[in-house]
Amino acid sequence: MMSLVAAPMAIVDLASTAQLQQQAAAAAAAAAAAARKQAMAADQQAAGDTTTTMGGEQELSCSCLMKGVRHLSDSGITRLPDRYVLPAPDRPGAAIVSSGSSRVKLPVVDLASLRDPSQRAAVLQTLDAACRDYGFFQVVNHGVQRDVTGGMLDVARRFFELPLAERARYMSPDVRATVRYGTSFNQAKDAVLCWRDFLKLVCQPLREVVPSWPQQPADLRDVASRYAAASHGLFMELMEAALEALGIVPSTAGGVLGELAAGSSHMMTVNCYPACPQPELTLGMPAHSDYGLFTFVLQDHVAGLQVMHGGRWLTVDPIPGSFVVNVGDHLEIYSNGVYKSVLHRVGVNSTRPRISVASFHSLPAERVVGPAPELVDEEAGKPRRYMDTDFATFLAYLASADGKDKTFLQSRMLLL
Ligand code: OGA
Ligand code: NI
Repeated sequence: MMSLVAAPMAIVDLASTAQLQQQAAAAAAAAAAAARKQAMAADQQAAGDTTTTMGGEQELSCSCLMKGVRHLSDSGITRLPDRYVLPAPDRPGAAIVSSGSSRVKLPVVDLASLRDPSQRAAVLQTLDAACRDYGFFQVVNHGVQRDVTGGMLDVARRFFELPLAERARYMSPDVRATVRYGTSFNQAKDAVLCWRDFLKLVCQPLREVVPSWPQQPADLRDVASRYAAASHGLFMELMEAALEALGIVPSTAGGVLGELAAGSSHMMTVNCYPACPQPELTLGMPAHSDYGLFTFVLQDHVAGLQVMHGGRWLTVDPIPGSFVVNVGDHLEIYSNGVYKSVLHRVGVNSTRPRISVASFHSLPAERVVGPAPELVDEEAGKPRRYMDTDFATFLAYLASADGKDKTFLQSRMLLL
C-alpha cells in the first residue's frame, strides 16, 4: 500500500491547506458514497431487493444476493448479510489471514531453466517434489508476455466494473454454457454464500467458443483468447515435464500428450473478490480441490489464496506476473496418488478487492481417467489406488453434492 505519511510539514499554511483539501475530499467522497447508496437503495426497492421486517430493519432478499457481491459491495454495506456468515469452525480465523508466519513461498519452478537441457533434470526434481508434497508451485520465467498476463487481469477488472445489467446478460443456470456469469461457489446449492463473483469461459475449441464470449469490454475476446492460448501452451509444457518426472516412458507419454494435443478440456474462471465488510466471517471460495490435471492461477498483487499443508492453512505470497499451478484430481488419479490434489480456499479482506483468473486444463470430457499402467505394480507394492472416472461421473457428483472438500476424489478412491 502507498504510505499516506508524508514528511513533517513545517509550513503551517501548507499543512492547513493540505488538511482543508483532505477535508474537502473526504466530504466529497462521503457525499458521493451517500448518493451512490441512496441510488442503490432506490434501485433495490424498485427491483424488490429489500424487504422491511417488523422491526423496520431492511433485509436483503434472495434475488438481490444473486446479483452478486460486487453489487453488495458497491451498495456500501457495513455488515455482512447473514447468508454469507460461515459456521464458526469454517471461518478463516483472524490469525490465518493476518499472521505473517502462515505466509508461504511456494516452491518455484523456473521454466527458463526447465528449457535449458543442462538444468532440466534439477528443475524436474523441484517440480516432482512440489507435486508430491504441496500439490502447488509457482511458475516464473515462463515467457508469457507481461502485456498478456497484465492485460488479462486488467480486462477482468474492467468486466466486473461494467453495469450489473451488462454482466447479468451472461447469467445462466446451465453449468455447461460456454459463458456463464454468477456468484458464490455453487450458487444453486450453497447454504452459505461465498464472497465471490465469477465469469466462466469455456476455452476449447478456442476459435469456436470465442464468438460467444462477452462483447464488453470491447477488447475482452482478443485479450482473453491470447491469454487462453498462452495458458494452454504452458499447460502442455508442464504436462510433458510432469510425465517425465513421474518416469512415464516416452512412448506412452506421447500417447497422453498426443491425446491432449488433439483435444483437451480447458475452462477459465475469472474471479472477483470485492472488499468485504467482515472478512473474518466468510470466504471467497470454500475449501475444495480442482477437477482436472493442472490448474493455472493468475492473481493480482493481493494475497488471498490459501493452501492446506501439514494440517495448516498457508497463505500464498503472490509473485507478480507468475502463475500458481496446482495438481488437480485427474493428475492425482493418473499418478496413482503420487502427486497430490490439495485442498485450497480463498480468504477475502476489508480493504483491497482481488482479481484472479483460474485456468483448468484436462483431458477431453468424455475421456475415462485412471491410474497410468506404469505406476501400478501390485507385486512391487504399488496397488491401484483409484477407480476410473469420467466427466459424466463428476457432473453427477456435482448434482448430488455441494462440491466442497475432497469428497469427489474420495469417492474415486479404492479402499486398500
Ligand atoms: C479456483 C481457485 C483460487 C483463487 O478457481 O478453483 O481455487 O485465488 N481459485 O481465486
Ligand atoms: Ni481451486
